[in-house]
Amino acid sequence: MVDIVPLSSYPSYIDLLPSIQTCNITNLPENYFLKYYLYHALTWPQLSFVAVVRPKGGYKAGGGKAGGDLSGQYPKVVGYVLAKMEEEPSDGMQHGHITSLSVMRTHRRLGIAERLMRMSQRAMAESHRANYVSLHVRVSNTAALRLYRDTLGFEVEKIESKYYADGEDAYAMRLNLQSMWLDWKAIEARDKENEKNEKTDETQDEGEAVGELGKKDDSKDQERMVKVKVGRGLGVGDLVERNESQQS
Ligand code: ACO
Repeated sequence: MVDIVPLSSYPSYIDLLPSIQTCNITNLPENYFLKYYLYHALTWPQLSFVAVVRPKGGYKAGGGKAGGDLSGQYPKVVGYVLAKMEEEPSDGMQHGHITSLSVMRTHRRLGIAERLMRMSQRAMAESHRANYVSLHVRVSNTAALRLYRDTLGFEVEKIESKYYADGEDAYAMRLNLQSMWLDWKAIEARDKENEKNEKTDETQDEGEAVGELGKKDDSKDQERMVKVKVGRGLGVGDLVERNESQQS
């Protein structure tokens, strides 16, 4: 079974980076130093996702005998999307960028690339309030073009002549993400309303219980759950260092 998870969800995602690099080298001519993957993972941990096949018996980070064969200890990466926020957007608009996407031949046409892309797009909109997501694709890459344009709804912004090292042109494509932004005011208002309704429910049943029900049952008191409010506003997005110079 293939799981699609954020790269950051692993106890040590550094373990996975070489497998992601292998997947990239196997599928694409545009390759990167390992430190570039690490830079993505550390700087925008929410935006990159991996499709993994877990090892039988579970994931054991650092497991295995010293010097022994560790293959099979780690999940096998069968696809990835490496994504980032554009650091110096030329148009001044905060937006995401797909650095690289690929899926191993053995696992193609299963919807993996579509899911990787959609998860990354959502994270860009929700964590970074990205206006849009951009990418480049070879004009000859029919499979990727169909995925981006027909399945995901990207539009060709322009053709960049000789964009690739071998002289091939690229389509510069983009997809608007504003419809995926979270409306925090509405979410907070809904939470307040729910809280109010819960309080009203609690105060409504004021009658004294009689008979067996009226007997005090200490074990029930002990089992009572305490609702803990988790600060939704304190998501990973707030831990991202903002580039104040981009906000005009
Ligand atoms: N031919 C035509 N359309 C295709 C093909 C294909 N070979 N593959 C995918 N599509 C389109 C289809 O519309 C498909 O929907 P459908 O299966 O319902 O018809 C849709 O894309 C979704 O397909 P997925 O199954 O999600 O795509 P997959 O997981 O197979 O991955 C990918 C597609 C990433 C393009 C894969 O073929 C691949 O890794 N290719 C080599 C690497 C590559 O070209 N990466 C993109 C470079 S651009 C960049 O990185 C920014």
